[in-house]
Amino acid sequence: MNTGASRIEVNEVGPRDGLQIEKAFVPTDQKVAFVDGLSACGYARIEVTSFTSPKAIPALADAQEVMRRIQRRPGVVYTALVPNIRGLERALEVGTDELNLVMSSSETHNRANLRMTRDQSLAELINILQAAQGAGVPCNVSLSTAFGCPFDGDVPVGDVLRLAGSLAEAGAAGITLCDTTGMAYPTQVADLCEQVARAVPGIPLTAHLHNTRGMALANAIAAWQTGVARFDAAAGGLGGCPFAPGASGNVNTEELVHMFQCMGIETGVDLPALLAIVRGLPQLVQREFSTPMLAAGHRLATHAPPAWLAERFGPA
Ligand code: COA
Ligand code: ZN
Repeated sequence: MNTGASRIEVNEVGPRDGLQIEKAFVPTDQKVAFVDGLSACGYARIEVTSFTSPKAIPALADAQEVMRRIQRRPGVVYTALVPNIRGLERALEVGTDELNLVMSSSETHNRANLRMTRDQSLAELINILQAAQGAGVPCNVSLSTAFGCPFDGDVPVGDVLRLAGSLAEAGAAGITLCDTTGMAYPTQVADLCEQVARAVPGIPLTAHLHNTRGMALANAIAAWQTGVARFDAAAGGLGGCPFAPGASGNVNTEELVHMFQCMGIETGVDLPALLAIVRGLPQLVQREFSTPMLAAGHRLATHAPPAWLAERFGPA
């Protein structure tokens, strides 16, 4: 098996991608407590919120207050999603460490999600990159629907390469390839990651995977084998884009971290601390959902055998 980096960076996107689609509004105090809890888990980055229109994403309408009130832990980069200049202004007002600009690789999802054509979004992001450089704030760019669009189907690789190239040239500090609705499959992930890495040499790539069709962990391995060493993930597997039909959760952070730890790859994330947060998520979002790793724990969290075994077979 090809092996990738011996250490990866995990970006927790639960507070942003996770909460943006939840029906129940999570009160600001609880959002701040969620982020503060995550800050103690050892993440490289936490995507705290998004500076989007509150009409588009009412769940994150309190973005500025959340960013203002979280406790900044040294060593953690606090980032936020930004789609336009207005979002940049709001993010800068509250001292966001790093911005995650967003546009889609496909035309129809860009229009549905951001109400702009791709050309309009690209021009807007290039303006933001210039302004952010002036302010000394680094910007990553996330390319949604890079592996397929729920409206347009397969997205030409050339479109992704062209956007990545233009944004890198305009000053993007990193590029994230997003599988918005879990359309990616492992050989496709490996191929696209290799091609983008060649197109924008020296620019770190991040994989942003959703588990809609059960392929997120397999896709993470495929990306890692090509040298990708940054992964977005959401605690409890929350998440999804409200403007993408069929969208569902991100790759679970706890499953991603557990898998890489089993393989001897350093993630920096404290799995028991993270699982303690995952335990509280159904209460945070006010609905039940399945979190299988909570019941099973780490693969070596073994159990006492049933008492009758000793009676029947004697001491082990
Ligand atoms: N933050 C806060 N408010 C914003 C804003 C921002 N970044 N951008 C626009 N607005 C406000 C405007 O001030 C305006 O308010 P008003 O109606 O009170 O005057 C209103 O939103 C409409 O502004 P407009 O520029 O016409 O935006 P739009 O309606 O064309 O929407 C986006 C464009 C990009 C702002 C919107 O589609 C959006 O926020 N999308 C984000 C989607 C998302 O996050 N998806 C999931 C993650 S991929
Ligand atoms: Zn996502």
